[in-house]
Formats: sequence, C-alpha cells, structure tokens
Amino acid sequence: MAERPRIAVLTSGGDAPGMNAAIRSVVRTTIGADGVAVGVKHGYEGLLKGDVQELNLGDVGGKLDRGGTFLGTSRSERFFDPAGIDEGVAILAENGVTGLVVIGGDGSYRGAQELHLRGVKVVGIPGTIDNDLDGTDTTIGFDTALNTICDATSKVRDTASSHERTFVIEVMGRASGLIALQAGLASGADCILVPEIPWRLEDVCDMVMGGIARGKKHSIIITAEGAAHAFGLATDLAAMCGHEVRTVVLGHIQRGGSPSAFDRILASRMGAHAVDALLAGRSGVAVGLRHASTVECPLPDAYTSHHPLPRDLYDLANTLAK
Ligand code: F6P
Repeated sequence: MAERPRIAVLTSGGDAPGMNAAIRSVVRTTIGADGVAVGVKHGYEGLLKGDVQELNLGDVGGKLDRGGTFLGTSRSERFFDPAGIDEGVAILAENGVTGLVVIGGDGSYRGAQELHLRGVKVVGIPGTIDNDLDGTDTTIGFDTALNTICDATSKVRDTASSHERTFVIEVMGRASGLIALQAGLASGADCILVPEIPWRLEDVCDMVMGGIARGKKHSIIITAEGAAHAFGLATDLAAMCGHEVRTVVLGHIQRGGSPSAFDRILASRMGAHAVDALLAGRSGVAVGLRHASTVECPLPDAYTSHHPLPRDLYDLANTLAK
C-alpha cells in the first residue's frame, strides 16, 4: 500500500494577514487528498526545536478571518548556517515529512531553497506585506496592508485638513516602495517617496508650498521606510519650508488585522496549489499569481530579483496629486 503523504507547513519571517488562510488551505487540501497535515511552530526556529505536530480539520477551524499566524513565526539566524539547515533536514525526516510548504518572504524562500538542495520536497507561498518577491503579481497580506494604510491616511487627512497641516506618513516595505506607491495612489497622497526613484527635498518643499499658495488645506506625504524616515524628513522639510510638519509612523499596525477578502481568496488558492504541486512531485518552486491564475517559478527566481516598481503607477500618482 502506498505511504500516505505527510505534508508540513510553516510560516516564517514577518507575519502577514492571510497566512492563517493559507495554512488552513494547506491542511484541508492535504487531508482532502488522504494525506496527513503537520504544523511546524515558530518557523525555522521551531523546526530546529522539533516543535512539530499533526493538524486535523478542526485545528484550522475559525482561522480564515484571523490576522497573524496561529503557528507563530520567527526570523531564525541559526537556520542560516549549514549545520542548522542539515539539522532541519534531519528533523523533517524524523517526523516522516514527505513535503514542506514554506509561507513567507525572501529570507524564508532562501531557507526553503537550501532544504530543496538537500533533497527535501519544498514549495514556497509568498506571504509578506512588502510584495517585493518576483514571480508573482502580488503576495499574501499586501492588499490588507494597503487597506489598513488607506484607512489610517483618511483619518490623518481629517485632522490635517482641520488644522491646515502637513503630515509625513511613514509606511513599511523594507527596500521596496510598492506599499508606499500603491497606498499613496489609493489614498490620494500629495507626494509619494519610494527608494526606487530619486527624490529631492526641494521638490517636496515646492509641492507643499505650492499647495498652500493654491489654497490647499493640507498636504499628505507618504514615504516608504526605505526612502526616508518620517521624523528626519519632517524636520528637514519644516526647516526648508518654514512650516510645521507632523509625522505618523504606521509601523506594525500595517501587519495586523483581519485579512481582506482578496487576501483570503489568494491564500486559499495558493495553499491548495502548493499541496497539489508537492503531491505531483514538484519541489523547489514558489507559487505566484499571474493574470489571475496561480503559477509556479523556481524559488531563486522569486528572491534574486525583486518585484519591479510600476513606473506608470508612480507617474499616474504624480499626475493626479494636485
Ligand atoms: O518584511 C515585512 C516587514 O514588515 C517590513 O516591511 C519591515 O521592514 C520589517 O518586516 C519589520 O520587521 P520586524 O517585525 O522584525 O520589525
């Protein structure tokens, strides 16, 4: 009799809304295919501790709409030395794991690729609010984070308008400006700063002063953390413009909250795709979304180049910000 597949799932790196929906999908697709689902707690760090347990259908009940990851996550340094990876391979073998689904960002994918090179069957699912992975149009959590930023920006605009103030809102994204760009476009920011495109303080100041001269009641500048930090930018801008500038750093609020319907559906589709790929014997691939279909690319393709910033959206945001 053929051995039942035993598919493990872990979440790694920064959490992202929709990770729970992806875990649920992996678990229920595996069990639906007569396999055994296994959860690894706290990412690669938990794997090295052998923190592994079987998950049944009920274990993922009530999780679809919950933010965070109920398995827990970590950024493991130990896993990134060869001895740590070998230990991880051994622990997966001891637990009879025949396939592993890694949900996370580029660091998580690098770990997954090392496991793949050592013979572990592994598939990646893009779970990060940064949307900086290549091989996919979008990542799990990005849409929810955008909605969170838009909601926060509307609130800031209310008070900015009442007091006729300028605000700098700093958003996450690490080295990527995708969150800043899309949130800025969606919330009508007056100015968007991204690390991919050079910017000058003089131009930001001209934008603020020009708006005031035209009778604008407020200015909202959205800066990606990789382009400029809010406090420094606000200080320099205030000095140059001779005009008070307030700051909001949205921070980890962007990573929390119930996933949007889009992220729940995306995560559900990607989880099922990952299990199907493993059951079909594929490994070393990352699941992505292209033209509304789930697709695969080799894991290194997803992290060696980064999701490019769509210049047309940046130009559009500038055209519309008047
Ligand atoms: O990669 C996701 C992310 O939220 C980045 O946007 C941010 O720079 C980083 O993680 C923050 O990491 P931590 O939660 O470890 O502070």
